[in-house]
Amino acid sequence: MIQRVIMVCLGNICRSPAAEMVLRAKLDEAGLGHIEVDSAGTGGWHEGEGPDQRSQAAWERRGYTGRHIARQFRKQWFDERDLIVAMDRSNLETLRSGARTDEQRARIRLLREFDRSERSGEVLDVPDPYFGGAEGFEEMMDLIEHACDGLVEWLRRE
Ligand code: 4NP
Repeated sequence: MIQRVIMVCLGNICRSPAAEMVLRAKLDEAGLGHIEVDSAGTGGWHEGEGPDQRSQAAWERRGYTGRHIARQFRKQWFDERDLIVAMDRSNLETLRSGARTDEQRARIRLLREFDRSERSGEVLDVPDPYFGGAEGFEEMMDLIEHACDGLVEWLRRE
C-alpha cells in the first residue's frame, strides 16, 4: 500500500512544490487524504527558500494553497517513500543513478506516465519553467493537473 509520495524536480521551488499542492488537494477530494505528499529537488541551491513567486501565483490562481520550504532530496527517502515521482527525464536519471537497489529504482516514476490523456511516444516531461516566461507556468499547471488526475486513480487502485 502506498502511504508516502514525494514529488521531485531540480530546484524544488517551481514544479515539484506545485505538484505537491495539486496532488494533496486531489487526494483530499478523492477521500485519500491519508496518503502523505511532500517534495524535494535533486539540487540543493534553493534549500531553505520559499517557492518561486511565479509558481506559487500559478497554483494559487487555480485554487491550490500550501506553504513550502525547498529541500534537497535525501538518500534515506529512497526507502522512506513508497513512490518517488520525477517531473522530467533529467530528474528521473539523477534519481535512478543515486538509488542503490532495484527495489529503490522501482519506486521512481515520471509524473506524466500517469497522465491517461497522453499519446504513446510523446516526451513525458513537465518542462522546467524557471528560465522562461509566464506561459510556462500555465503549461506546468496544465500538465501537473492532468497527470495528478491519473495518479490519484492509480493510487486508488494500489
Ligand atoms: P524547478 O525549477 O526544478 O521546477 O524547481 C528550477 C528552479 C531553479 C533552478 C532550475 C530549475 N536553478 O537553476 O536554480
